Amino acid sequence: MKRTILPVAVALLSGLAAQTAQAAMDEPIQVIRPPQNINLGMVELGKKLYFDPRLSKSGFISCNSCHNLSMGGTDNIPTSIGDKWQQGPINAPTVLNSSLNVAQFWDGRAADLKEQAGGPIANPGEMAFSHTLAIDVLESIPGYVREFKQVFGSDKIDIDQVTNAIAEFEKTLVTPNSRFDQWLLGKKDALNATELAGYQLFKNSGCVACHNGEAVGGNSFQKMGVVEPYKASSPAEGRSAVTGKDADRFNFKVPTLRNVEMTYPYFHDGAANTLTEAVDIMGRLQLGKKFTKEENAQIVAFLKTLTGDQPSFTLPILPPSSDSTPRPQP
Ligand code: HEM
Ligand code: HEM
Repeated sequence: MKRTILPVAVALLSGLAAQTAQAAMDEPIQVIRPPQNINLGMVELGKKLYFDPRLSKSGFISCNSCHNLSMGGTDNIPTSIGDKWQQGPINAPTVLNSSLNVAQFWDGRAADLKEQAGGPIANPGEMAFSHTLAIDVLESIPGYVREFKQVFGSDKIDIDQVTNAIAEFEKTLVTPNSRFDQWLLGKKDALNATELAGYQLFKNSGCVACHNGEAVGGNSFQKMGVVEPYKASSPAEGRSAVTGKDADRFNFKVPTLRNVEMTYPYFHDGAANTLTEAVDIMGRLQLGKKFTKEENAQIVAFLKTLTGDQPSFTLPILPPSSDSTPRPQP
């Protein structure tokens, strides 16, 4: 008897594990995976560059100014403030989990993180620098010259290396282990009844048609205002700016809903201040559905379970400028 108990128990248990794994696979949202094949030296260099304001004309603005890693990788304001206090036209999306995006920017005009990273440095409304000037600055800083050489094996720094390193760092900014992921992995008490009810509503109402996969979004472009038009407070036209097709007007990349509790305000124009408001607008405009107060609160409770472990690392200490480093410009 004793001999049979163990195999039966193991068979039962592994059957249960298989069932749990199967159940998780049947869900429209998948567990987020940690980054693969990361070059650690490049990550460390990319982290410094991400935090280095000397890549901006004013010497004051870094990637982290608008994608603050202490605040969900965003700036928590409707549209970002750039060089000379210029207010940009569009909300800064989070950099968290951005490696999972089908393309970068609201209209997808950059194919990947590497292509994206060159943009803000030279954007007159953001960091207002130029790639040549950024390279001049980096080459004047002995600590950087040494580290670039170590990582890329070359005596000259170029913009390709800069964007590669930043993109490699960004790949590490995934946020695993949210309560929802724990639930997907079989920890059934990770969500309470309200949160589970919210998830059922999220699935059954059709939110998952657009917000699905590992990032709960980020993998398609969709019309903002399917059932009712959206009155945006930004001139952005969305995907049509890239494709030139009228049919793509007002199509935006569906944002990831991971960490959405932290990434307010919402939508490409940052016009919705709260999740309650964003969920109400999504229900009416995308699905023609008016949620009751209770249903809305349940969906919001579910969305808050998507907050994962935030990136944690030692704050990078930037190598000091040398006497010949070009100084910040007004
Ligand atoms: C978009 C990274 C600097 C504001 C993005 C995206 C990434 C990113 C990955 C796309 C995210 C997505 O589409 O889901 C970086 C890096 C920077 C940097 C690596 C430094 C080199 C800045 C700065 C500002 C800013 C300084 C503010 C002045 C924005 C805005 C968007 C954006 C407004 C959305 C633009 C659009 O979709 O048209 N950034 N960013 N970024 N970032 Fe940055
Ligand atoms: C944006 C939730 C249904 C496509 C958002 C945001 C939230 C949200 C919270 C703001 C995220 C951010 O700005 O960071 C929901 C919920 C839904 C739902 C709870 C179900 C009631 C849908 C559907 C579609 C869709 C069915 C596609 C037809 C989009 C798009 C955006 C967005 C394109 C960005 C719009 C813009 O910024 O202009 N959603 N969503 N959503 N969602 Fe949904």
